Formats: sequence, C-alpha cells, structure tokens
Amino acid sequence: MIIALTGTPGTGKTSVCALLRQQYRIIDLNALIKEDGLHTGEDEQRGSLVADMDALQARVDELVKDMTATVIIEGHLSHLLTGIDAVIVLRTRPGVLAQRLENRGYQPKKVQENMEAEALDVILVEAVEWHEKVYEAETTTTTSKDAAREICSMIQRLESGELDDLGGYLPGRFDWSEEVFG
Ligand SMILES: Nc1ncnc2c1ncn2[C@@H]1O[C@H](COP(=O)(O)OP(=O)(O)O)[C@@H](O)[C@H]1O
Ligand SMILES: [Mg+2]
Repeated sequence: MIIALTGTPGTGKTSVCALLRQQYRIIDLNALIKEDGLHTGEDEQRGSLVADMDALQARVDELVKDMTATVIIEGHLSHLLTGIDAVIVLRTRPGVLAQRLENRGYQPKKVQENMEAEALDVILVEAVEWHEKVYEAETTTTTSKDAAREICSMIQRLESGELDDLGGYLPGRFDWSEEVFG
C-alpha cells in the first residue's frame, strides 16, 4: 500500500516520519527532489526548488515498483502524485503553525502565506480533487509521538480495509478561516 503524507509546511510531516522509519519504508520527497535533481531550477522569490513533477513521478514509480510492504511518501507535493492508495493530510491550527514556522526562521511573508494556505484548506482541496481516499489528522496540540501513533493506527485500518473506522478522519472537520481572515 502506498500512502501519501502531506500537509502545509510545519504540520509535522517530517517529525512524524522520523518516528515511523522502523515500521514503514519512507520516501522523503524533498530529499529526493534535491538529491536526484528533479527540479526545473530555483524559485528565487521563495528560495525553494521548483519540482519537476513528471521526473518526480517517474522516480517514485521506479522506487515503489518492487515494493510489497507499505510505503509512506512524505512531502507537501505527495498528494499530487498518481499511484497512491490513500492520502493523509496533517492539519494544524494557523496560529500554532505560524509559531512553528517562525521558530524555523521563515520570513513573515512566507509565514503568512502558509497560514493562509492552511486556513483555506489548499492542500486538502487538491488532495480531494486527485484522490478518493483522503483523511485529515490534526497536529495542533499533539506531540509528534502522539501524531505518529495516530498515523500508524490509521495506516493499519487502511491496510485491513476497516474504512468505517476512519470516519472520524474524513475531510471537512476544520474551519480556521476566521482565525486568519477574521
Ligand atoms: N505533532 C506535533 N506537535 C507539536 N509540534 C510538532 C508536531 N509535529 C512537528 N512539530 C514541530 O513543528 C515543527 C515543524 O515540524 P516538521 O515535522 O518539520 O513539519 P513539516 O515536515 O510538515 O514541514 C518542528 O519544530 C516540530 O518539532
Ligand atoms: Mg518536512
């Protein structure tokens, strides 16, 4: 089974995956883009690499081709890939997200941009457009350890086909627009 773990920067994707490495094979998309040069250059305004999605897709296809165990593809672009069985979107209240991004040294403009994207459900909406099985897990007040445990139990239910037990994670539970756009 191939799971995309996505979410706005700062929602905890990398922290969660660091704790799941023993149970699952993890593909870190940001690292893959950088190491394998799967980009079309740098977005100078954003100071980030522009992913070459076709090249990324081809590389991921190659990596998962012979895998039988569950794989987690981690990164804020993972839901834009095809061949994914389910998407888990991490969600964090915008005020908390802003604090995490500030701590990480993001510039105010970039912090604001990400807060707005989180409040507008940008990644969730994209995920739902692309995939059938999409679930949201909140990481506002949990520790990374709690979040990893929760993701693990979600994956176990996906693997065993107990989709009814995932009802509490269906999309549309969060409305944080007031918090940012008041
Ligand atoms: N569930 C969580 N609860 C509280 N803080 C978290 C949680 N997950 C991550 N963090 C903190 O938020 C910051 C960003 O986490 P990170 O895993 O790098 O996010 P992402 O990979 O989604 O950008 C880190 O400083 C991390 O310690
Ligand atoms: Mg990360």
